[in-house]
Amino acid sequence: MDDERITTPELTQQDDEIELSLRPKYLREYIGQEKAKENLAVFIAAARQRGEALDHVLLYGPPGLGKTTLAGIVANEMGVNFRVTSGPAIEKPGDLAALLTNLNEGDVLFIDEIHRLSRAVEEVLYPAMEDYVLDIIIGKGPSARSIRLDLPHFTLVGATTRAGQLSAPLRDRFGCIFRLELYTPAQLGLIVTRSAGILGIAADPDGALELASRSRGTPRIANRLLKRARDFAQVVGNGSITLQSAQTALRNMDIDELGLDLIDRRLLHVMITQYNGGPVGLETLAAAVGEESVTIEDVYEPYLMQIGFLGRTPRGRIATPMAYAHLGMRPPQAASIENEQLTIDSL
Ligand code: ADE
Repeated sequence: MDDERITTPELTQQDDEIELSLRPKYLREYIGQEKAKENLAVFIAAARQRGEALDHVLLYGPPGLGKTTLAGIVANEMGVNFRVTSGPAIEKPGDLAALLTNLNEGDVLFIDEIHRLSRAVEEVLYPAMEDYVLDIIIGKGPSARSIRLDLPHFTLVGATTRAGQLSAPLRDRFGCIFRLELYTPAQLGLIVTRSAGILGIAADPDGALELASRSRGTPRIANRLLKRARDFAQVVGNGSITLQSAQTALRNMDIDELGLDLIDRRLLHVMITQYNGGPVGLETLAAAVGEESVTIEDVYEPYLMQIGFLGRTPRGRIATPMAYAHLGMRPPQAASIENEQLTIDSL
């Protein structure tokens, strides 16, 4: 609903140019995601030694964690071209055919939001991924003929926030599947410091770590907060991002000590006050806070779950005692124990 919230992990227009300049180009510059990095380094080295294209790679996980960046790194490390598109942009099988026939040997084709490909397009993708061929149907009805075109050996890197929505045949055609994880504050601290260096922003370690620990585990948010904190440091401080100027900036942006913004807090508040802390169904919750259920699932929940504020149960979402404590409210159990105590005391 609110695309402009500073803590949205999704790509906004303002991010574009800054993200491009900050994106690491090689694995050695990429901070965090150690498991994906280690495995990719081996697979890339092996493919290069054999002089082959890298096997197809699927990257999944919450938005803003660097899936596109990692795909670009794969292309750079392999020394091939990087072509970028997305599921919704490939409307017809012909669109995909045009993309595929324009690739060179070994190229990386990156399809973001790959779970949004239509069935008809997916059907064209299967033989392309498996046998590097394109089956084209010419004509209609009984006179229709199928011709087969050879494609260059390419690497498909698919990215999705929702691996569960990928069809099984598509998922099975990826040789390497990596789940990207939310970053730790320490890793984000390194990313903020690196970005500050590239952008020529003075940030001391405490200031950088403060921004990092309030960025919901997401580099895209960390880099965005860095830019806003620089504005505050420039106008109300001495130009350098310190612990104090970072805290002032974050307070002014309504981002609390854990990186929660007004919408996160509203979500928890609604769960607690209107649904007694849950369990409450996803759709009900989405309607109550006026957000789409996919946004709640992809954008808000991963971080709230990581910090232990929200749980998923078969009957719906629950707010944990830690969420109550953070909002300065008392969990029902503690309240009822206390009430009982009160009754006993007042007898
Ligand atoms: N910028 C955004 N994501 C990054 C990462 N994982 N490592 C280094 N810089 C980044």
